[in-house]
Amino acid sequence: MLYSLLIGCLNFACLFQSGYSQAHRNKPQPTPYHDFDYLVFSQRWPLTACTEWEEAKQGNTCNLPKDKDLWTVHGVWPTKTGKMGPLFCPSAIHFNPDQLAPILTDLNHYWINVEANTKTNSFWAHEWNKHGTCASVLPQLDSVPNYFEMGLKLNRQYDLSKILSKGGIVPGTNGYDVSFIYNVIKNAINREPSIQCVTDRKTKESFINEIRICLNKTFDAIDCDASNPIHRIRVGLNTNCNQKKPVWYIDTVPSTIVDEDSEYNNESYEEYQEFYEQQRHYTWLYNFIRTLLWVTL
Ligand SMILES: *[C@@H]1O[C@H](CO)[C@@H](O)[C@H](O)[C@H]1NC(C)=O
Ligand SMILES: *[C@@H]1O[C@H](CO)[C@@H](O)[C@H](O)[C@H]1NC(C)=O
Repeated sequence: MLYSLLIGCLNFACLFQSGYSQAHRNKPQPTPYHDFDYLVFSQRWPLTACTEWEEAKQGNTCNLPKDKDLWTVHGVWPTKTGKMGPLFCPSAIHFNPDQLAPILTDLNHYWINVEANTKTNSFWAHEWNKHGTCASVLPQLDSVPNYFEMGLKLNRQYDLSKILSKGGIVPGTNGYDVSFIYNVIKNAINREPSIQCVTDRKTKESFINEIRICLNKTFDAIDCDASNPIHRIRVGLNTNCNQKKPVWYIDTVPSTIVDEDSEYNNESYEEYQEFYEQQRHYTWLYNFIRTLLWVTL
């Protein structure tokens, strides 16, 4: 009886969710089950992230770190093999920016919100709501401060500017084969990374944008999973960069790039807020069912 009630409730949630997905086909769906295999630690090249943001919408402006050679944190993303997410998990922990006060200077530097014309804290709130809520089942990431401190720690541990420059790869006007960049990272971490580019739809020029290192649940590097759609692999290496032309590791924001993957990238963090509110509904349902089970069993 209780189980049929439980199944009924879950079916109701599924129906609700599939109806919702019709209306929001372009957005990643909530997958609120806390179940994941590994973590993707994603770092971005702020100049490319800025270019992408400026191209996404007229009037968009950027914040850039003072240190021009800095790769900054994008996020720490719980991931299931072969799938995106889980995302937006039921969590009793709500993002509270006050808790980040002790590490605010570091966050503004190493986990900078490149997108200047967005609300203060919106990038961090987004990363917490979308990924942190799911990651929080790991003891090392079980609070807002712990999640963000881990991102900062990994950014120090995997210093991409240093790794790349040791391999002879420096920002500027030289193009590099993505396989060369890939192998420099791979040799430094002894695992398969994932390299993401913004590629101009017209010229097919690729600009290095993100480097991802995959970690197991005890934070040791593992091979990134080539089957995962988040890496948008076209062919061969774990990369969506053009493998037929040199890719650019820019040192200034170029004038225009018509981003090929713009449908993935022009999301603003605020748009996700609505999505998160939706998620809170499931959280309520989930907690309700759990309480019911606890009371009755
Ligand atoms: C993570 O990888 C390290 C090194 O390969 C290994 O010792 C550890 O047991 C792994 N942890 C998990 C949770 O798989
Ligand atoms: C991204 O921008 C393009 C062109 O401006 C637009 O057609 C598309 O709907 C946008 N995608 C999202 C998810 O907002």
